[in-house]
Amino acid sequence: MSNYHIKNLEEYYQVYRKSVRNPQSFWEEIAEEHFLWRKRWDKVLDWDFEKPSIKWFEGAKLNITENCIDRHLHIRGNKTAILFEPNDPKEETQHITYRQLYERVCKFANVLKEKGVKKGDRVCIYLPMIPELAISVLACARIGAIHSVVFAGFSSTALATRINDCEAKMVITSDGSYRGAKTIDLKGIVDDALEHCPCVETVLVVKRINVEINMKEGRDQWLQPLLDNAYQDCDPEIMDAEDPLFILYTSGSTGRPKGMMHTTAGYMVYTAYTFKNVFQYREDDIYWCTADIGWITGHSYIVYGPLANGATTVMFEGVPSYPDFGRFWDIVQKHKITQFYTAPTAIRALAKENLDYVTNHDLSSLKVLGTVGEPINEEAWHWYNDHVGAKKSPIVDTWWQTETGGILISPIPFATPTKPTYATLPMPGVQPALMDEDGKEITGNQVDGRLCIKFPWPSMARTIWGDHQRYKDTYFSAYPNHYFTGDGALRDEVGYYRITGRVDDVIIVSGHNLGTAPIEDAINEHPAVAESAIVGFPHDIKGNALYGFIILKETGESRDRDNLGKEVNQQITDRIGPIAKLDKIQFVPGLPKTRSGKIMRRILRKIASKDTSNLGDTSTLLNPEVVEKIMEEAL
Ligand code: WTA
Repeated sequence: MSNYHIKNLEEYYQVYRKSVRNPQSFWEEIAEEHFLWRKRWDKVLDWDFEKPSIKWFEGAKLNITENCIDRHLHIRGNKTAILFEPNDPKEETQHITYRQLYERVCKFANVLKEKGVKKGDRVCIYLPMIPELAISVLACARIGAIHSVVFAGFSSTALATRINDCEAKMVITSDGSYRGAKTIDLKGIVDDALEHCPCVETVLVVKRINVEINMKEGRDQWLQPLLDNAYQDCDPEIMDAEDPLFILYTSGSTGRPKGMMHTTAGYMVYTAYTFKNVFQYREDDIYWCTADIGWITGHSYIVYGPLANGATTVMFEGVPSYPDFGRFWDIVQKHKITQFYTAPTAIRALAKENLDYVTNHDLSSLKVLGTVGEPINEEAWHWYNDHVGAKKSPIVDTWWQTETGGILISPIPFATPTKPTYATLPMPGVQPALMDEDGKEITGNQVDGRLCIKFPWPSMARTIWGDHQRYKDTYFSAYPNHYFTGDGALRDEVGYYRITGRVDDVIIVSGHNLGTAPIEDAINEHPAVAESAIVGFPHDIKGNALYGFIILKETGESRDRDNLGKEVNQQITDRIGPIAKLDKIQFVPGLPKTRSGKIMRRILRKIASKDTSNLGDTSTLLNPEVVEKIMEEAL
């Protein structure tokens, strides 16, 4: 039996039981056998969920890029590490071998050093899905700089907030990006952001779309000439197991994004282990995850997990609809993809289109299909299973979070029988618990509650950058000695988990986490707006869409509502990004509030989803009459 590669259900249960009985020895064995360490750890795990403090493999020394690149060179030097598929299908695919990846990462790392980046410095990466994105991430890791990738769909304000929060001294960006038939002026967005970021000293610019851009003297530099002059080798910085590897921002219930900080050794071990098992990865596979490296899925399952296993990982620059809705299947056919990992929202969008887009392609190379980011509805699951997987490729519905670093609940293909809409069973080493509202664990099966994890796993975020108290308050205070996920879940009769959705103020739209607070802040900045409340409502493709209830100031009352709505959405686009735009906007005379002044979102959610049969008791509200009024005018 191999702990590292589970092959059937019986083996899963054996491994799982072992992992729970003695997590330390379980992870120690995996760490020992499958990675390259410069020094062994002194202690496998030290933890305290009270503080909270979590340390894995303390005392060990390593560099994650040695594990993801160097150690593969002698056996896989000519194997493709990154297979880059450009936005335009007429542009050539790039095969970057492990040898070439080594050289490009080392050169890039040398450029970073030459520009004064040192171990522990923060580097913000704002790039489209081009090879330089993965390479710059790895170059940071090579020299021990902490990367903070910001998804290149975020606005200049959102980018500035993230740069300032971690005081990045460098930004890596490009002259622009391709997105289907459009181009996006990334450098312009960076320039706007940097008006407000005194900490940034240097901007490195990748040439991608060949347009004239503004280059600020003394600050901005084209990357290529620097790379041309850089040395080919760069000794890896030897890191402590718990040295920070990266910061990645996620939305929270207040306006400020949370910079989740991940460290080196545990993250590496866990992402590599879960990649291998959840995708049943084998040496000759061609694995494709369609996420953007700007999200955790891309960090863990495009870059680190696959490369740590010596895999070929596909990076796709474009969108599923360009040049037509068959693009995903073109790529699957062209590269004989074996594992395909995407988001339910993409599946729902493609399922709406003509089935010929799928059936015109040979998808027989596929072995495993995956989904992530939001619950997958039954209809989408069946469409994926029937038409993409031809009912022979198990679907792994993987549940996890930016905070968890890696997949925590998922079937293991060919081992765990799948069940539509169920993420099924915990990964080895993961100990879920369902809690009731009074903080007691709900035991047994056929129950539902709030999903917590009661024991540390190696890739959990260690803190929120610069705000440990918030980390404690958000994740470790609701249920003492438990990590609280913010999700609700149920456990069926055989112990399978189904994630039912967020129980806090985060709304998942098209698989993207959006906090209501930052969106409301953006809306409230509009001069005609007095107050607003955002809720989610069910949407065919996006899963959830946003419904905004907005109270206007007196000065706004005379304004044209359509125009105001457009301005509000523009305001959101400017402050956060187009992903946070509202699908519906209702101007209201008031918002239902409790006597202590808290907005009753539960009522608004019901109105937005047209489910007003059971609104509950509204008589205790401060302003019950407003509910009637909102219902009358609901969209
Ligand atoms: C949701 C993405 C149901 C969940 C990796 C979680 C899911 C949040 C699933 C984290 C799934 C993610 N089924 N819900 N398979 N996967 N979620 O941080 O609400 O972008 O808390 O990480 O997405 O989103 P994040």
